[in-house]
Amino acid sequence: MPRLAAAFVLALGLALPAAGAELAPDRAAALEHMVIQDCGSCHGLTMKGGLGSPLTADALAHAEPEGLALIILDGVPGTAMPPWRPLLTEDEALWIANYLKELE
Ligand code: HEC
Repeated sequence: MPRLAAAFVLALGLALPAAGAELAPDRAAALEHMVIQDCGSCHGLTMKGGLGSPLTADALAHAEPEGLALIILDGVPGTAMPPWRPLLTEDEALWIANYLKELE
């Protein structure tokens, strides 16, 4: 990697919060929109379930955010739950998992 690019990546790495921390407000708003539009098409607009299982805080009370993030990234093979890895980083999947665990 050219030195300049390496310095840039390093600076970016320092500027970005640690894994699992807050995302940029813009990105958080985009993810919130995605959860309602894309996830909601199967899980219900209020996440109370449809084709997909309910994703409310109640339904996910006993699930670890890290485990949910992996489901979001890799999907559930053999079901309609698709993998979202092409669209999300691991931090973003974890953000969504925590977001869902706080939904009423
Ligand atoms: C095409 C339909 C579809 C879409 C779109 C979809 N899901 Fe799913 N999802 C499912 C189905 C079906 C299951 C249940 C799989 C099973 O039977 O275990 C599931 C399961 C899950 C689970 C596991 C729930 C549990 O109780 O273990 C999570 C978490 C989840 N989805 C999150 C999401 C998120 C977040 C999105 C959007 C980024 C999303 N899903 C979009 C169909 C979908």
